[in-house]
Amino acid sequence: MESNLSVIEKLMREYDRPFYVYEESIISNKVEILLEKFPQFEFLYSIKTNPYNPIVNFILSKGFGADAASAEEVTIAEKAGLSHEKILYSSPGKTRKDIERTLDKSIIIADSYNELILINQVAKEKKLHVKVGVRINPDYTMDGGNGVSSKFGIDEETLIEQKDLFDSLTNIQIIGIHVHLRSQVLDYNILYRYYDKIFELSLFCQETMGWELEFINFGGGLGIVYSSLEDSPLDIELLSDECKKLFEKFKHKINARLIIETGRFVVCEAGKYVTHIVDIKESRGKKYLVVENGLNGFLRPSIVELLTAYTPEGSKLQGCEPLFTAKDAFEFTIAKREKSFLEKVSIVGNLCTSADIMVKDIMLPKADIGDILVISKAGSYSYSLTPVLFASHPLPLQFYVKSNEEICTE
Ligand SMILES: Cc1ncc(COP(=O)(O)O)c(C=O)c1O
Repeated sequence: MESNLSVIEKLMREYDRPFYVYEESIISNKVEILLEKFPQFEFLYSIKTNPYNPIVNFILSKGFGADAASAEEVTIAEKAGLSHEKILYSSPGKTRKDIERTLDKSIIIADSYNELILINQVAKEKKLHVKVGVRINPDYTMDGGNGVSSKFGIDEETLIEQKDLFDSLTNIQIIGIHVHLRSQVLDYNILYRYYDKIFELSLFCQETMGWELEFINFGGGLGIVYSSLEDSPLDIELLSDECKKLFEKFKHKINARLIIETGRFVVCEAGKYVTHIVDIKESRGKKYLVVENGLNGFLRPSIVELLTAYTPEGSKLQGCEPLFTAKDAFEFTIAKREKSFLEKVSIVGNLCTSADIMVKDIMLPKADIGDILVISKAGSYSYSLTPVLFASHPLPLQFYVKSNEEICTE
């Protein structure tokens, strides 16, 4: 694409307001990697990570299905042109309204026994016979430990006890299982061993529960590098090799769609958050760059600061999905062409809360009021996770730079 910097400067000059900018070429690259390295699998784009229309449309145009986490995300995927079997709707706590709205638009993945009964009831009322999946909370963890209590899914060991209940549901047919245990995994060994266990669980579901599985959804977990100091990238080549072996091991026993949810993997690194410096001040020896829409434009950097404050010195930050992060997760750049000397600054937002700190005490080229600040890794769980309504500031805009350099905004 035309130099990143000139596109960013042009957009800021024209709109004079904070924005996100997403690069299609980076998304495209990630999509191609997955398609090439895992030909046995189908991929679902996790819409919650970034539901911006041009992104959803582009990824779905590459043959990805949708990992929908709400009825509204089912509608987003449907509007993008997906047929119902390409939309897998999985979340805890679906309401009757959610089920009525999505029953014939998606494959619903039931998250509890109550939900299974409700889906069956709704299907009966509508005189439908529907195919559904079940989210299972397996009796193991990703690290090979024993299963834990979870708000997600149905405990694996209860399945057999409830076989009569499953068999009594006249208007639904269980055709798939869904397991998701952890996000942001960078060790391919952990991922493929986890996949292996899900294959074994699928065999149990087929052989003992009597379900004819049409899909196995292995969930998300493909990690990205947040910290250049602490993280090593997920070794896609080795994961791909192991997946091929797994496929060979199970292909004679399982004839189902094998599905992975992409999570943050495809879009995170394609996004940048851009804002500008509206004030510079000093207080008792510290310098502050005040930007428009800090925490309320892009929340994630402030979460790093918050977690750092509660983490013992020298320890890794403990996140949870979708807030996994690292101390050096984000790169802060002042969009300046000329070189100037470095100085220590903290970047803060324009909210009346002391939580509104994007980064403390980093070295940056000397900045002026009006300079543009660019922050990396703003593609996933970024706009969608940010409290943009707080304090009623104008909302950040979003731009999508296509591979042919056309820029669109919606
Ligand atoms: C069921 C499910 N699938 C996929 C994802 C997204 O994947 P990730 O967080 O690994 O990027 C999540 C994250 O919360 C999830 O809960």
